[in-house]
Amino acid sequence: MSNKFRFASNPIEVPKINTKHRRIVTKIPVPQSLPILEAISKYESSNVKDFPPIIWSRAKDYTIEDDWGNRWIDMTSAIFVANAGHGNVIVQNRIRDVLDKPLMHSYCYPTLERVKYLEKLARFVPPYFEKFSLYSSGTEATERALKLSRLHGRSISSEKNIIVTGLGNYHGKTLGAQMLSGRPQERDWIGFQDPNIYHLPFPFPWDLEKMSVSGSELFLEHLKDLEQKGVNLKRIAAFMIESFQGWGAVFYPDDYVTEMANFASENKSLLVCDEIQAGFGRTGKLFAYQHYGVQPDIVCCGKAASNSMPLSIVLATQKIIDLDPTYTSTHGGHPFACAAGLGTLEAFEEMDLINESKRKEQIFNKYLSKIQETYPKIVPLSLGRGMLHALFITDPNADPSLPIMERLDFDLTDKIVEKAMQNGLFLIRTGCGTLKFGPPLMTPDEVLEEALTVLEKIIKGIYP
Ligand SMILES: Cc1ncc(COP(=O)(O)O)c(C=O)c1O
Repeated sequence: MSNKFRFASNPIEVPKINTKHRRIVTKIPVPQSLPILEAISKYESSNVKDFPPIIWSRAKDYTIEDDWGNRWIDMTSAIFVANAGHGNVIVQNRIRDVLDKPLMHSYCYPTLERVKYLEKLARFVPPYFEKFSLYSSGTEATERALKLSRLHGRSISSEKNIIVTGLGNYHGKTLGAQMLSGRPQERDWIGFQDPNIYHLPFPFPWDLEKMSVSGSELFLEHLKDLEQKGVNLKRIAAFMIESFQGWGAVFYPDDYVTEMANFASENKSLLVCDEIQAGFGRTGKLFAYQHYGVQPDIVCCGKAASNSMPLSIVLATQKIIDLDPTYTSTHGGHPFACAAGLGTLEAFEEMDLINESKRKEQIFNKYLSKIQETYPKIVPLSLGRGMLHALFITDPNADPSLPIMERLDFDLTDKIVEKAMQNGLFLIRTGCGTLKFGPPLMTPDEVLEEALTVLEKIIKGIYP
């Protein structure tokens, strides 16, 4: 099993497809796209060669198009950004208004775009978030949450500087964010780890079942383990969670998070939720932490907040956020980003997107559970809520007594992604090997059904 995402780079003749939503009329990859892909890999230090070889030319609503007549249904929202649909007209018009003025940049100086956005945001989110700081990337937001958590801890005691986060979490690619993230192999290059950041194991539902413990009991055990490592729990400044584990759409047991929130509140520690992927309706609620019934002290958002332009947000109470008055960032709160953010909130209201996400969970459940029941050896598990789902694709010949994460079959998942690309469906395989779905929340039912039917046929074709 390789850990690398690779697709055939030689154009392959594939059956032509022409439905209302999907169109494949060339070889895949398109022969004319090869020099473009080569130029990217020649000049850009990215891993672009590992992505499906499609040259995005237009993206509208729930589709992606190239310049050669092909069209794919997008099951990714371009990495969970286009929740209100690609090229959403409300968002586009808001950006165009600013472009036409023109107001192309303003640093952190006051603009009408900024104030209109902040006022609308304050009405849109739960009232316990009183203030916001605006940045361009998710990783800046998590760095800021780390700093605010430590400043808050230090305002109580100079020793209160421990941050507890989770194994397997992802919080971004800058230094602090990588130390927070629970992926030791990704931060290996740093050469050392912040000694006051600890990672708890993730309470996977199957582990709880095996151990016969409740979520709240497991959280208390995790605290005991920390104490055994010499951690004075009073020194915990914050617990930081990714509201679900992104790679597999794995949610916490509710009582694990409520126990954590109760302990945090009694211990004067903050609860920080990274909603960069989870926020803005993705899971059928505005924020995924709302499934747990808790009230975090700090929330980090990004991705879908603007449906397009680089925008990330830290939400908190005034008392917490004002602990650090040095929050400027050159492009944070850019007029285009604020305009896009405002348009996104308007689109969410007009299109009732959070309820739409919740409603469409049924469609996903219907199709994915059927796939799981029909092909239990390759799809033993599907998880998700709202418009966020993951299929665990495993090696059908692997020993079933092995933990599911050791059976994930990267090559087979890549094969499904490649076949999907040839069939007008844009899918992604996560770095952990799962197949993950996050289409725009406005994707019509019939399109979602068509996409999931194609997926089922692909799985059937690979293992009839
Ligand atoms: C949960 C989570 N946190 C943080 C980030 C980092 O965001 P960005 O890539 O915008 O820096 C991501 C991005 O995938 C994410 O999913």
